[in-house]
Amino acid sequence: MGQKSNIQLPIDEEIEVSPGFIVERRSFMAVFGGMSFAMLPGVIAKAAIEENADKNISFDQFLAEANPLAKKLITDTSISGQDLYLRSIAALTAKLQGIPIPEKFNNTDLGINAEDYKIGVNPGGNPFTVLHWRLEPDAICQPHVHEYGNVVSIGIEGAARVSNYVSNDTFDYDNNGTFQIKKTVDQLLTAGSANLVPLDMIHGFQAGPDGARGLDITTRLKAKPKHSTPYLSIATAPTDPFTGTYDASWVFKP
Ligand SMILES: [Fe+2]
Repeated sequence: MGQKSNIQLPIDEEIEVSPGFIVERRSFMAVFGGMSFAMLPGVIAKAAIEENADKNISFDQFLAEANPLAKKLITDTSISGQDLYLRSIAALTAKLQGIPIPEKFNNTDLGINAEDYKIGVNPGGNPFTVLHWRLEPDAICQPHVHEYGNVVSIGIEGAARVSNYVSNDTFDYDNNGTFQIKKTVDQLLTAGSANLVPLDMIHGFQAGPDGARGLDITTRLKAKPKHSTPYLSIATAPTDPFTGTYDASWVFKP
């Protein structure tokens, strides 16, 4: 076969690639030697799809795909709508390579030390913001609730253990005592993997011995609350191992 080409068709339709999981048709309708996949005999079509699946995409290509898709999906802020939104954005990050490293990283107050957890920005996301984070070796980002925006975290370099928790009740930020949360995810975030944080979910990170770097693709869904973002002190051992229930309390920064 002659020279191959993969050109995105200018089609702005949606396809359901798995139950309830819709992506832009143009993400998948690359043409192969002038023919769309649908026109190719089965074996050739399979080869063409596999070839395209191996293609990496640049950060600019990711934005070109993700921005219009996010604008379309962000309108549904229900639990299922957020799930579709987060999984759709995460799917587009699967082959993302060559992510620019921001010139400037700022310290945050979510590490134990100011230098532990730094954040920069990769501009161009809309309606989401792409935060680029760095954890020093063995450093932590203390667990905190995302109460006004959801997040897709992806690993770029190194490894970080990510823990996600939820509460069965509405969070009460005036509670000075102990309350219960449930661990739903315990994941090693490595290059290319993704962790999803819908509204009102807690996440926290601990880097491995080589440190970790990744992105938080964060989307504001509500007005920012007046109180500062607390982090949580979480008991090391669960009160109920089967359900992953832990005692926790708020830690407000002065
Ligand atoms: Fe966060």
